[in-house]
Amino acid sequence: MITLSADPYAKKARASGFRSRAAYKLFEINDKFVIFKKGQQIIDLGASPGGWSQVASRKIGSNGLVIAIDKAYIQEFKEKNIVIEFQDIFKKDLDTFLLENYGKSDVLISDCAPNISGNYDQDHSIQSMLAQRAFELSQCVLYMGGSFVCKIFQGSETQEFVKSVKERFRTVKLFKPKSSRKQSSEIYLIARDFISDSE
Ligand SMILES: C[S@@+](CC[C@H](N)C(=O)[O-])C[C@H]1O[C@@H](n2cnc3c(N)ncnc32)[C@H](O)[C@@H]1O
Repeated sequence: MITLSADPYAKKARASGFRSRAAYKLFEINDKFVIFKKGQQIIDLGASPGGWSQVASRKIGSNGLVIAIDKAYIQEFKEKNIVIEFQDIFKKDLDTFLLENYGKSDVLISDCAPNISGNYDQDHSIQSMLAQRAFELSQCVLYMGGSFVCKIFQGSETQEFVKSVKERFRTVKLFKPKSSRKQSSEIYLIARDFISDSE
């Protein structure tokens, strides 16, 4: 078992000023799939404590914007291109709120996860609902051609979820970053080239 202090990614994150070891998962995803471009607007769901937002912030530069959303507290960032929204992603009309306040976005990333209870079925079922909600929001807030990155727990519902995402995005891949713990069933879905309703 790896303790947090011995975990190389946790050490590296602390030394480099990232708020979570999860930052390295997003670096790996972006190295492989090239999600971010300068000047983009990014929605980060389940953003606390903020590692993913910091990575996205660097990649999009000072002309871009990261909207960091979580139902848990997020400490203010020193990066000027990150705004924090204290919201539950299941809140009704979150899509309208985002569109009215920020307009459409280029990328929606979701690292949302439940507090792990240890009950496999229960944890998987909540994770599936979080991923489903992230997918639903992506379809409301993304520009045509946009990208969606989402944590999922591999299980009985994965195949069905991938199938539904493929109906709205032209390219869909699954990827397990090296920095994702081997014993975790988490995997990331990377969906690119959103097909908007208006096409
Ligand atoms: C693994 S952490 C995210 C780590 C983050 N990506 C980072 O790099 O620091 C998962 C987050 O999902 C959030 N979350 C879970 N359910 C949520 C919900 N219904 N609405 C908003 N955030 C939620 C949790 O509060 C938690 O902060």
